[in-house]
Amino acid sequence: MAGLFDRFAPLMAQRDAFLGDGRADPFKVKMDQVLSQTEAMIAGKRTILVGTNNYLGLTFAPEALKAAHDALDAFGTGTTGSRVANGTYGGHKELENALCDFFEKDHAMVFSTGFLANLGILSTLMGAGDYILMDADCHASIYDGVRGSAAEIIRFKHNDAADLDKRLARLANKPGNKLIVIEGIYSMLGDKAPLAEIVAVKKKHENVYLLSDEAHSVGVLGKYGRGLPEEVGCEDDVDFIVGTFSKSVGTVGGFCVSNHPDFETLRLVTRAYIFTASLPPSVVASATVNLGLVKNGGALRKRLMRNAQKLGQGLTALGLKVASADSPVVAVVAPDPVVAIAFWRGLIEAGVYVNLALPPATPYGYSLLRASLCAAHTEEQLDEVIAIFAEVAAKIGLIEPATKVAKKTAVG
Ligand SMILES: Cc1ncc(COP(=O)(O)O)c(C=O)c1O
Repeated sequence: MAGLFDRFAPLMAQRDAFLGDGRADPFKVKMDQVLSQTEAMIAGKRTILVGTNNYLGLTFAPEALKAAHDALDAFGTGTTGSRVANGTYGGHKELENALCDFFEKDHAMVFSTGFLANLGILSTLMGAGDYILMDADCHASIYDGVRGSAAEIIRFKHNDAADLDKRLARLANKPGNKLIVIEGIYSMLGDKAPLAEIVAVKKKHENVYLLSDEAHSVGVLGKYGRGLPEEVGCEDDVDFIVGTFSKSVGTVGGFCVSNHPDFETLRLVTRAYIFTASLPPSVVASATVNLGLVKNGGALRKRLMRNAQKLGQGLTALGLKVASADSPVVAVVAPDPVVAIAFWRGLIEAGVYVNLALPPATPYGYSLLRASLCAAHTEEQLDEVIAIFAEVAAKIGLIEPATKVAKKTAVG
């Protein structure tokens, strides 16, 4: 009889072949002390964090820390129940009201994570006889969410509005509802959805709704940080926005906002909302305060984008391949997983933490050193990060050492 975990044996063998030499393991990074939004002690070394998704650096905002402490003292460490049973506190409603104000929408539902928001909404919204048309590069939580739906799932080519149009045209005579699912900024490569084109396609067809996961674009894009729909000026055309508090908002939790008049029905039918414990009061309080800081965070957004451009341009100038320009996600594409692991190890040993992302978790089978910027990174930190990338990339033979390049230039 097959062992319980036998089917994972090839994966584990591959993991051991790549990582089993006792050196730093990307799956076992432990931050023993968090020194600030941008630095931590890892294996006894001061390390610059460039892989946190803490885009605005709000994890230590004094106003949010105070609100969290006050809520902890007043309401305790947890709700010990789901929103529907005993887990809705005043703070949850205040947070939902704050989300409605922030997004200028009529309805908001808070979930315990962004993953659960996608799981809950996507498995519930469309039923048998309906269609979900999702971008092929969508996040794992979107894939898991749609898998739980009775609707037919259709993937369209990443960021290809013409492909979406073609697939919707094939459904023209089918009576069911259709839901397009995209992300504002895609998490791995940091590229934006062609939202204006997707909205134009949506409007060409009947019974089509649009849901955008704005996990990486809330706080980052738009004058008030409402994400890609605000930046593009088509907020009324996006029927459902899903998001997370675990990135720009600097804590944990997920949400969905909408103007759909029947939205509140979802509270009675969404299993990932009903059958799981609600967020602790301290988290809810800090999320509420940080939403205000996100809204008024124009200066932070400017600093974030300046930092993103500096790192993106600095790494490109070294001769490294960066997936997207002008994005807070700066993903360096390595030629293969072995090089990517050597690169990642060199960086962490030299005091720079980025995310190692390998296939099949990545689009196009890319092996990535994924950096995400923070408004709180200083110029000096980013200069140090670029210098360490240069040193490590040269050491593993990905680029020529700086001295050689300089000499070459000198002799013409
Ligand atoms: C696009 C996208 N959606 C959803 C999530 C899930 O968010 P959370 O961390 O709140 O579960 C993530 C997190 O990485 C994400 O990148």
